[in-house]
Amino acid sequence: MIDLRSDTVTHPSDEMRAVMASAPVGDDVLGDDPTVILLEERVADLLGKEAAVYVPSGTMANQIALRVHTRSGDRVVMDADSHIRVHESGAPASLAGVTIVPVAGIHGIFTADQVVAAAPGPSPDFPPGLFDPTTLVTMENTHNEAGGTVWPLESMRSVSDGARDLGLAVHLDGARLWNATAASGIRLDRYADTADTVNVCFSKGLGAPVGSALAGPRDLIDRGRWFKKMYGGGFRQAGIIAAGALYALEHNRDRLVDDHANARRFAEAAADLDGVTVDLESVQTNMVFFDVDDASAFAGRLRSAGVDTLALGPTRIRAVFHLDVSDADTTTAIEILHGVATGR
Ligand SMILES: Cc1ncc(COP(=O)(O)O)c(C=O)c1O
Repeated sequence: MIDLRSDTVTHPSDEMRAVMASAPVGDDVLGDDPTVILLEERVADLLGKEAAVYVPSGTMANQIALRVHTRSGDRVVMDADSHIRVHESGAPASLAGVTIVPVAGIHGIFTADQVVAAAPGPSPDFPPGLFDPTTLVTMENTHNEAGGTVWPLESMRSVSDGARDLGLAVHLDGARLWNATAASGIRLDRYADTADTVNVCFSKGLGAPVGSALAGPRDLIDRGRWFKKMYGGGFRQAGIIAAGALYALEHNRDRLVDDHANARRFAEAAADLDGVTVDLESVQTNMVFFDVDDASAFAGRLRSAGVDTLALGPTRIRAVFHLDVSDADTTTAIEILHGVATGR
């Protein structure tokens, strides 16, 4: 089976497993796991931030960020299709107690003007305390639901400057920031500079088995450690999995461009098929979203023929390319897609 459901389905390589098996460990809850400490320092350094905290998932990293930047009842501005809004199980309302103000981005990208419209400042016409305050803006790069699209650095800067003018904090959901950097050549720390806090994930395109990190100013990250513990994220001898993340950072970033090339090849082949619609403009990294008449039936036929994809809506299917999908696998997947689309 060629598994294109997500870039989270990768299996650790033998070398990664060997490094994990021999990793020095301590007790992460007591703060003395040397491999976790090394990973946190490495991530903070890569992102140009003072500190980072290793957590079990991207969802936890994002939710800790919401918590450290907001108070219960605050409003948070983000693209309507943000992972935080759509796929984090209602956590913003449940855990941070915030209201999300969704804005309609294009390919997941919104503007500073949209932030201003969504987060009006205090008005002399009303007494203080009448409106719930907006305190945070979040961006997502690459943007998952939009198809793995890359925010241009200038757009991020503009939103960030606009937000800061309004006194708002900025969080970047950079679960796949590695892919944005691979696609654009723009360094991680330059993207990270547009935000106060940044979430990055090791268990997606980088191919590590578990974990994400939240990076930012030391005082916020220290406060974030409290929420990590509160949310059940204290994971003791986590050095074993942190070692996989360190290995992935070292060995699996440069090869992300191969996944992007495979996604592009698959998308262009799909676009040539009758009955399959692809927005090629949105195919900028390792994901391909395409539409067919009946996504569930089409994905079922692909699966029977040896390609697993995700039907995400009545007509929408997602295929994601990653380090367990070779160039040859991509060629095979294209042949199978062709066969299913043409009924041959
Ligand atoms: C953009 C984005 N942010 C956050 C997450 C959450 O990561 P996790 O699945 O590790 O909780 C994902 C997961 O796919 C994602 O795509």
